Amino acid sequence: MSLLVTGGAGFIGSGFVLEWVQSRRGRLLNLDALTYAGHPGNLAGICNRENDNSGEYLFIHGDIRDSALVTRLLRDHNVTAIVHFAAESHVDRSIVDPGAFLDTNVMGTFSLLQAAREHWQQLRGRDRDEFRFLHVSTDEVYGTLGPNDPAFTEQTAYAPNSPYAASKAGSDHLARAYHHTYGLPVMISNCSNNYGPRQFPEKLVPLMVLHALEGKPLPIYGDGAQVRDWLYVSDHCEALRTILRDGKTGETYNVGGRSEMANLQVVEMLCDLLDELRPSPMGSYRRLISFVQDRAGHDRRYAINCGKIERELGWTPKENFAGGLRKTVEWYLANSAWVESVTSGQYRNWIRTNYESREVLAGIIGGAP
Ligand code: NAD
Ligand code: TYD
Repeated sequence: MSLLVTGGAGFIGSGFVLEWVQSRRGRLLNLDALTYAGHPGNLAGICNRENDNSGEYLFIHGDIRDSALVTRLLRDHNVTAIVHFAAESHVDRSIVDPGAFLDTNVMGTFSLLQAAREHWQQLRGRDRDEFRFLHVSTDEVYGTLGPNDPAFTEQTAYAPNSPYAASKAGSDHLARAYHHTYGLPVMISNCSNNYGPRQFPEKLVPLMVLHALEGKPLPIYGDGAQVRDWLYVSDHCEALRTILRDGKTGETYNVGGRSEMANLQVVEMLCDLLDELRPSPMGSYRRLISFVQDRAGHDRRYAINCGKIERELGWTPKENFAGGLRKTVEWYLANSAWVESVTSGQYRNWIRTNYESREVLAGIIGGAP
């Protein structure tokens, strides 16, 4: 009996895989295409031999769209559950290159669901009854909220605004349909913004930390008053384990941190942490804050009502935002080799593509570095 994780070399997937393997929860196969966002270095510390059938952990370098490979893995390793993380995950990249999001998030999920369905239909007895497909999704499928709107519940209608959110919404709909039409034991989680160790530095928190350390401007889109609900990554992973163990098939669970923050507030907190942990001779890192041209179609506010998973499954977030952010900054400061290895030429190209043409709206507070 094995668990198949897809996208386990990425940010959240690697957190999930490391905990699972280190806690000896059972055999785990990690299928990852190692795109720019996936790093074998994220899994340092656990056995990482490809095509080694004996161990508790097996990494397979492959694509979720390779249905022959997925079918073989499901059959040969008697897979009894799938946790599906693999995706293109960055909104700004989805604005520049939406096609990749449709290919992986929609067609990739379709291909995986189809292989899972064929595998599950051949299972018998307990294996068939206990099989689970956990589809890991985002709160962004629900669209945007006004300042006084109630938080998203599992009943909120889908209204995705970015190509990323639309592609995740498409994958959620397919997952739901595979349950409704074929009975595949699917569960869906819709989670808010994660932060923590090993997040690729294209996302807000690590990008700001690395820019600050390099003395580069901290590019805040628009007025910085957009609100996100932040969840520490290990809390998300625990929610997923809880859903996998106790969740009801056919159900959706919202997962959030009860921690709504405006972007500017997050960046100011990061500056203050860095001022304490790695003071700069140039003065407070807040001097680097710079307001730049907004993201196209930028959602104003996300907020998650996670009452259902708390009530029905007993999960609640353990980490508060201040504590989690401190741990995150400490991790980036202590792992400069990791940072070095992921900020290669390709990463620098992305930074140029996304930021160089953005008009600076309010300059750098306190003068240029
Ligand atoms: P990530 O971009 O850090 O990692 C994605 C991983 O998927 C990478 O290892 C990549 O190599 C792999 N991958 C991409 N395409 C693949 C393919 N075709 N076949 C196999 N592997 C492939 O993403 P993340 O932030 O860890 O997010 C993981 C999942 O959680 C995604 O589905 C995302 O939508 C969802 N999610 C993320 C957040 C967040 O704040 N990061 C919040 C809620 C939900
Ligand atoms: P991000 O980490 O890309 O996550 P998401 O778009 O999925 O919420 O961005 C979080 C917020 O931070 C979002 O409102 C966009 C904003 N942001 C900036 O202001 N500047 C940046 O350079 C980045 C990457 C994000």
